[in-house]
Amino acid sequence: MVMENKISTKDKIAYLLRKNKEWVSGENISGCLGISRAAVAKHVGALRHEGYLIESAPRRGYLFKLEPDKVDLNLIKNSLNTKIIGKGEWFWLDKTFSTNREAAIKGAQGALNGSLIMAGSQTNGRGRKGRKWFSAPRSIFFSTVLRPDMAPKKLSLLTIIATLAVQQTLAEVMGLKAIIKWPNDVLVNNKKLAGVLVEAGLSAGELDWAIIGIGCNVNACASEFPEELKGLITSVMEESSKNYPRNSVYKEIIARLDYYYDLVLNKKEPDIIKAWKLNSEIINKKIAINFNNIKIEGEAVDISLEGLLIVKDDKNYEYQIEAGDYIIS
Ligand code: BTN
Repeated sequence: MVMENKISTKDKIAYLLRKNKEWVSGENISGCLGISRAAVAKHVGALRHEGYLIESAPRRGYLFKLEPDKVDLNLIKNSLNTKIIGKGEWFWLDKTFSTNREAAIKGAQGALNGSLIMAGSQTNGRGRKGRKWFSAPRSIFFSTVLRPDMAPKKLSLLTIIATLAVQQTLAEVMGLKAIIKWPNDVLVNNKKLAGVLVEAGLSAGELDWAIIGIGCNVNACASEFPEELKGLITSVMEESSKNYPRNSVYKEIIARLDYYYDLVLNKKEPDIIKAWKLNSEIINKKIAINFNNIKIEGEAVDISLEGLLIVKDDKNYEYQIEAGDYIIS
């Protein structure tokens, strides 16, 4: 085989694997390219990092499964007809710490209402309650900076609309039986497929900016999930056996998020709550929850118009519980 020297070793490996469409041993690749097997493994690692899906197995070698799909902001922008979300600046980061962190910085620096920050990967994706979000390969991670004229106590509504936008995308576009798990998860087959994190900056008790951050596992395989999350999380590809271009997943989620955000701004909370209740699992269920460091056991009876979960304990005391974690600045 004659291969041009200008092509990098890593790209030569991608070419070899792609062309073969079946298992190629590490020995074969190392012989063909005149490099060690350790070097082959290192280059395969780099390709995976770029979004290639390459399986490996002892004694079999490597199997090329999927090209990285390219996110094209112009394509997404031109396919959208939104009122607010996407109407600010757009940022793409191949790799970042956390899109929510980037959005918080940009929010505090005055980023325009509706700005979007998207990333190819995150090294420290943030989850609720300080947890870490595992940023799966070939998936979507984005945050939008919003400047709503809204009372801070209504911030839970942003979590409500974001989970709804993702749940509706999974159900309507991918045909998956997706369910919202209060407060911020979207599950398929009882496994977490997406999560939402709303954060906000307040000044003098008023909302200065709010961020909706969404992570959704799209074209990742279960074999790529960390051991401790196996069986607990899933992806669109695992559930539908199809892979979806991230451009279209971004478009579908952003379009729905904008639709529901417009309902929030126009005070159509009853419509939002109705749609949410139809697609979530918590209402009328017995739950145990930590509220202001007190353990409450009771029944989740409703969602208030401010997006708070209403829980009644067995003495008929009512508690209204917020969905999110917020930064107070
Ligand atoms: C959770 O399940 O606890 C919420 C997870 C939210 C993850 C997304 S990924 C994009 C955005 N950036 C972050 O750092 N977190 C959110």
